[in-house]
Amino acid sequence: MACFFRRRIAAKLSRALQQPEEAFIPALTAVPVMKKQQSADFKLAVGTLRVGGVLPSGGDVQLQAETLATQLKPDSVVEDVSAGRGLINFKVHRQLLVQKMLEPFGKGEDHRFGLNSELFNHLKQGTTLVEYSSPNIAKKFHAGHLRSTIIGNFIANLKQALGNNVIRMNYLGDWGMQFGLLGAGFGRFGNLEKFKQNPLQHLFEVYVRVNKEAEHNEEMKQAARDFFRQLEQHESSAVSLWQQFREITVKEYRHVYKRLGVHFDVYSGESFHQDQAREVVQQLQSRGLLKTSEKGTGVVDLSPDGDMSSVCTLLRSDGTTLYITRDIAAAISRKEKYQFDEMIYVTDKSQENHFSQLFQILLNMGHSWSDRCRHVSFGLVRGMKTRTGDVVFLEDVLDEARARMLRNMGQSNTTKEMDNPEDTAETVGISALIVQDFKGPLQSDYKFDWDRMLQAQGDTGVFLQYTHARLRSLIRRNEGAEAATFDPSLLLEQTSIGILQHLLRYDEVLNQSAQDLQPKHLISFLLKLCHLVASAHRELPVKGSSQDVAQARLRLFSAAGSVLSNGMRILGITPVHKM
Ligand code: ARG
Repeated sequence: MACFFRRRIAAKLSRALQQPEEAFIPALTAVPVMKKQQSADFKLAVGTLRVGGVLPSGGDVQLQAETLATQLKPDSVVEDVSAGRGLINFKVHRQLLVQKMLEPFGKGEDHRFGLNSELFNHLKQGTTLVEYSSPNIAKKFHAGHLRSTIIGNFIANLKQALGNNVIRMNYLGDWGMQFGLLGAGFGRFGNLEKFKQNPLQHLFEVYVRVNKEAEHNEEMKQAARDFFRQLEQHESSAVSLWQQFREITVKEYRHVYKRLGVHFDVYSGESFHQDQAREVVQQLQSRGLLKTSEKGTGVVDLSPDGDMSSVCTLLRSDGTTLYITRDIAAAISRKEKYQFDEMIYVTDKSQENHFSQLFQILLNMGHSWSDRCRHVSFGLVRGMKTRTGDVVFLEDVLDEARARMLRNMGQSNTTKEMDNPEDTAETVGISALIVQDFKGPLQSDYKFDWDRMLQAQGDTGVFLQYTHARLRSLIRRNEGAEAATFDPSLLLEQTSIGILQHLLRYDEVLNQSAQDLQPKHLISFLLKLCHLVASAHRELPVKGSSQDVAQARLRLFSAAGSVLSNGMRILGITPVHKM
C-alpha cells in the first residue's frame, strides 16, 4: 500500500537527516503516471523541506538535492535514488510494489483501501454536520439545488469515509411570506384532489397563480399577509394547512432523492427556528448589539470601524424576522443539539455574503465555534433544460437523464441481456450528470450539455460506469479462476506497473479533496484510472493466458475495479455491474 512505501522512505530520510519521520511525509508524494515510460514512484520536494525547516534554507536547492540523493543508498525497499529538478526521486523494487499494492485485495479489505493512510492522521475526526439541497416548498427546484444536493452528498460521503460521524441535513425553505401567499392562494386556486395526486406540481401552479394575482390585486395581498400572520401566531387552521404542504412535499422529495442516491438524517427547515429567531433578536438587543436604523429596521453593525458603514438587517420594521435571523437561530440550536465539531453549508455563490455575515454575527455573539463553520459555494449552471422546457422539478431532470441514456443504450447488444435496463439507464444517466458537475472547480459556472455528458467515450460518467461494468464482467466470466495467492513477478509490464503507481496516489487524492472539499481531484484520478485500465484490457489479456498469468492479471483487474467502485461511491455514484 502507498502508506507502506511512504513510511519506509520517510524512515530512510529520517535516519539520514536525523529528523522525525513525520517531517518528511508532507514533502513526499507519488509521481503521477505519464504516457512515456517512467521509473520513479515517489518524489521528495526539497523546497518543501526547506520551508519546513528540515533542511537549511540557504544555498542552492539543486546542489542540496544532489548531495542528499547521493547520501541515500538503495536498500531492500528502495531500488534507486536520483536527483531531479529540486527533487529527489525514489524507485521502489518492482516486485515489492506489485505485492504490497495488491495484497489488501485478497483479504477482503478492498473497501478500506487507502483510507488508513498516515496522511489522514492530522485530520481531526469528530461530528460533521453537512447541510445541503435545502429547496423551497412550492418553488422551483433549480439547478443550484441540484448542485447543492450532489456536492453536499459527496462531502458527507467523503467525511464519513474518513471516519467522521456525519449528520446529513436538509434545511427546507418552509417559512416566510411565500406561505402567506400559498395559504391564501390555496383557498382560491387550490384543489385537494390535484394536490394529493401531484403535490409538487400543484403547489407550484398555485404559487405561480397567486403571485400573478397579487401583483395587481390588493385584496389578495392582504389575504396573504393575514394568512402569514395567522401562521406566525400559530393559529391552528393555518398551521394545519401549512403542515400538509410540508409533509407531503417532504414525502415526495424523499422519493426523488432516493432515485438520486441521496438521503438525509434530518429534514429541518426555517419554520423550526421561528420562535428562536425572536429570542436571538432579544439577546442581541439586551447586549446592545442591535441598532435601530432610520427605516425602523433592526440591524447589526458589521463595519470594522463601528461606523455603521456595513450593516445586516435582522428585523423588519413590522417586527418580523428574516432569512438570516432564522439562520442564526438554526446554527445555535444545531450546535446545542448535535455538538458538531464542524458544520458545512453548501449553496451557490450568490449566498457568500449571507454566510460570511452569519458567521460574523455568531462570532460577535460570543459563539467561538463559528470559525468551525464553513460555506462551500459553487457557480451557476446555464441551460439546464429538458425536451419539454425549463426544469421545475428534480424529477424532470432524472426522467430526462434516464430517457436519453436508455436511447443510447438501445443501440448496444448487452442491453438486451439486462434484467432492468431502465434502472441501469437511470443510474448511468445520473453518473453522467454528477461527473459533468464535478469535473471543474466548483466555483466555476458551466453550461449544461446532455449530449456531451452522455458520451460513452471521453471523460464522462458513462465512461466510468462502462469501465466498471467491464471489469466486473471480466471477473464474473473468470469466476473461480481467482486465487488467494498470486505471483507478483508476473505483473512487471509497464502497463501493470502504471496502474499500481497510479493507485499509490489514491490516498493523496482523497486527502486533497478532504482539504479543499473539491471533487475534481477524485474525478480526474478515476478517469485516469479508467484510461489505464483500457490499455490493460488490450495488453494484458486474461483469456488464453496460462493459469498463473491469468490469476495475477485478474488480481490486478479486481483491484482496479474495487478502487474505481470505492471512489465512485464517495462521489455519490452507484457503480453498475452490467451495462
Ligand atoms: N432555501 C435556500 C434557497 O433555496 C437555501 C438554504 C441554504 N441554507 C441555509 N442555512 N441558509 O436559497
